[in-house]
Amino acid sequence: MKDQIKKNFAWAQKEGVDVCLLAYDDRMSLLKVGSCLVVYHVGSRPELDYLTSLLTWNPERFFFKERYPQDAHCQYRARPQESYGFWVKEYDLKFWVDPGQYHDIGLFADQRKARQLIKALSDGKRVLNLFCYTGGFSVAAALGGARLVKSVDLSETYLLWARKNWEANRPAAARDFWLKRDVLEWLRSLPSDRFDLIIVDPPTYSSGKKMRQNWDIQKDHAWLLRSCQRLLAPNGSIYFSTHASAFHWDSSVPEISRWKDITEQIQTEDFPRNLVKAYIYQ
Ligand SMILES: C[S@@+](CC[C@H](N)C(=O)[O-])C[C@H]1O[C@@H](n2cnc3c(N)ncnc32)[C@H](O)[C@@H]1O
Repeated sequence: MKDQIKKNFAWAQKEGVDVCLLAYDDRMSLLKVGSCLVVYHVGSRPELDYLTSLLTWNPERFFFKERYPQDAHCQYRARPQESYGFWVKEYDLKFWVDPGQYHDIGLFADQRKARQLIKALSDGKRVLNLFCYTGGFSVAAALGGARLVKSVDLSETYLLWARKNWEANRPAAARDFWLKRDVLEWLRSLPSDRFDLIIVDPPTYSSGKKMRQNWDIQKDHAWLLRSCQRLLAPNGSIYFSTHASAFHWDSSVPEISRWKDITEQIQTEDFPRNLVKAYIYQ
């Protein structure tokens, strides 16, 4: 682990990214978040002495969290803890993170390259970001020159967080719209808007009081992607990604051959391979 940490630490410094996975094994993952360290562990907490013996720097604070049960991405509801928020940078983007409060810090670093891709694809586009969380893709699209960005999420907390990120990045031209809605319900209402670029990075599973039906990426992606295709302007594209480890395409997805696998292209240097699978429809 020591070598992995040294290599990734140096890499992140050189790249200009403040959130970086330093190392991982079967028992724990070490995420550098600014000058703090988040330790995602399986079973009991690793000893502080052991952790410091691995590091070449002294974190300002350590945060310990139990690692996700497999495939629970974004649906894990640990009790909120004390907040500890600050700004981090990711190339030319700036995000508010909070390693203290929730299980996730507010920025999925494994989508770092995907945000750069969205930025590169957004010039002059009308962009829709579904399941927007803290708005990472929305901000990237705006800084890439999008003329309009509509972001949808059912969480008030995350939408407020996303707007804070948006304002801090001061996108010049883009008009912004924030919708506090269940994406599935909103798509069912057949919105009349058309978009040139749609980003859809849904949770693997989702359920809750605010939703009329549970969500399961494997069962429901065909319907979701079909609904997105309907909102697409001529020559538009859809970016779709998932963390579901056993994800496979449902043969009822329309025009399936037009979905290109870009998993390799968005692979980040510090994360395990194929943790995020990504596809683009053009
Ligand atoms: C996987 S994260 C999305 C990550 C985000 N795309 C990013 O890259 O930062 C899940 C997000 O989906 C939202 N969510 C879950 N189910 C939803 C639903 N049915 N409608 C709208 N938002 C939902 C959650 O509130 C959370 O913000």
